[in-house]
This record gives sequence, structure tokens and C-alpha cells, in this order.
Amino acid sequence: MTRPEIFITREIPQAGLQIINRHFKVEMWPEYAPPPKNILLERLAGVEAMVTLLSDKIDAEVMQAAPRLKIIAQLAVGYDNIDIKEATRRGICVTNTPDVLTDASADFAFALLMAVARRVVEADRYVREGSWQVAWHPSMLPGRDISGATLGIIGAGRIGQAVAMRGRGFNMPILYCSGSPKPEFEKKCGAEYTDLETLLRKSDFVSLHVPLTDKTRQLLNTERLALMKPTAYLINNSRGPVVDENALYEALKTGRLAGAALDVFAVEPTPATNPLLELNNVVVAPHISSASLATREKMAEMVAENLKAFFAGQKPPHLLNPEAFKNK
Ligand code: GLV
Repeated sequence: MTRPEIFITREIPQAGLQIINRHFKVEMWPEYAPPPKNILLERLAGVEAMVTLLSDKIDAEVMQAAPRLKIIAQLAVGYDNIDIKEATRRGICVTNTPDVLTDASADFAFALLMAVARRVVEADRYVREGSWQVAWHPSMLPGRDISGATLGIIGAGRIGQAVAMRGRGFNMPILYCSGSPKPEFEKKCGAEYTDLETLLRKSDFVSLHVPLTDKTRQLLNTERLALMKPTAYLINNSRGPVVDENALYEALKTGRLAGAALDVFAVEPTPATNPLLELNNVVVAPHISSASLATREKMAEMVAENLKAFFAGQKPPHLLNPEAFKNK
């Protein structure tokens, strides 16, 4: 039996790659940086499947270049880089990798929260740069309490709920806003459903866990950031464009907001000249929330399982557009 041709846009962890290699005729882009658009379009000409990352923009032009393409298997839970409507219109299935990265992503959101509140990164710099000249002083790098502070979760999906559970472990009252109330979640961690404005007004830490859509783009703009307490912190490991970065910079610079911890940016990679990086009350990371070794392996395995199922004639376990499969 001839194996279907697949293009993989970057080297993915072996756990998934080995499975894919057994079932497909693989071409994998070997470089660390993504394939240039012209090369991508050229490589897709004969393939029936592709594996994508969140940094690959998969639009109508890309799909047009791949007339035999049947499935796009994304190695990420978010998929705002893929034009799903267009894929569905063309009968191309799209899959993602939810669940396996929930804990790793929630852990990292909490790591960011703790780092910015307790000034962990500043403290590290302080020691390394030789600023620690006096053994101990009560005014050295004081931060904010985490235990007992109110945690506001915007978007109570899998990751938002997992962050709330961590907050509960720290004895934090939890507020959340989401499409609709979630009674089970409320029971589990005593979270209180509220509207966005109230959440912003009352929370000491606001953590973003919404997907990027037309509705959530620039959700936190100047007006909404102005509702937050001047002592509050913003945590974002969802998608950068959910926050207006210029407005955030102004709020942080002028003391309208105590700090921010960001794993995601309006444009990635964010340039070293991003003014947010000048601020000491900002902690940053290069979009690595799901980057634990074990999680990345599980994500790659899930990509392989989605692909295998599809080519065995089954509905892939993590299919985002069932309409495309129905029309098979
Ligand atoms: C990471 O941002 C993901 O969507 O998996």
C-alpha cells in the first residue's frame, strides 16, 4: 500500500515522529526557522497531510497550493493561525492537541504569576549583577502576597480551570468570566461567575485563558485595563493580540497597573526593542507555556494519532471541524 505523503513544517518530538514515519512518506522541514512561504507552497503540491505549528499561517493561499490536502494536524491547542472556515469549505479536516498540555500550561501561568508578584526575575538579576551588597534589609525587593489574593480567570476552559485549581491551593478566592456559568467548576474550587468588568475591578491577579477570535482580539484595551486595581497584575499565556500592548505599556509605565507577566505577544517573536521589555515590573517568556519535555512528546503523539485515525477512515479524536469529515 502506498503511504500518504505528508509535509511537517518543523522537526517535532520523536515520540510522534516515529509513528508518523511508519505510516507516511514524510518530508520534514529541517531548519529551526519556518519554511519561507514560496518553499512551503512548493512542498505542499503533492501532499495529502501536513503537520503545522502555531507560527505557520495556513490561509487560503496555502490550501490552494495543496490540491490533494485532506488534513492539517496542528501541534498546539490554539489554532488561530489556521483559516478553519476555508479548510472546512475545501473539505480539509483540522485537528489540534488539547488536554495533554493543560497542566503544563496552567503550571506556567502560575509560574508567571508568582514570578511577577514576588519579583523572582528582578531578584535573580539583582544578585547576578552584584547589586546585593548588604546581607539583609527589610526593604529589599518586597513583592505582593499571592495567598489570599483574588484571582480573576478570563476564559474558564480547560486551562483557565486548571489555573483556578492552582489558585485554590494558594487559598485565593476565584472570580471567573466565561461564555456561560460552569456549576461543576464552581463546586470544585468555589469560583464565582461574574462579568468581565466586575472581574477586572475586583481581582488582584487577572489571568487570560481565551482563544484568539474576532471577539477576543484586543479584549483588554485602554478602557478595560483602566478598570483594574493599580495594585493588580496581568498574566497572559493565551495569545498576545488579546491585549492591546501599547495600552498595557502605558498602564504599567504610569503605575496604573502593578505588573504583567507575558508568555505571548502581539507579534512573535517580539523584538528586543518592545518597550514592555524596558520595564522591571514585566516578566516575559518566549511562548513556552506547554514546553515541558513530557508534554511536548504527548502533543507530538497526539498529532500522530489524529493523522493515523484519519487515514484509517476514522474520525480523528481531536477534530476541530467535523463538517469537513462528514463530507468525506
Ligand atoms: C500554545 O500556545 C498552544 O496553543 O498550544
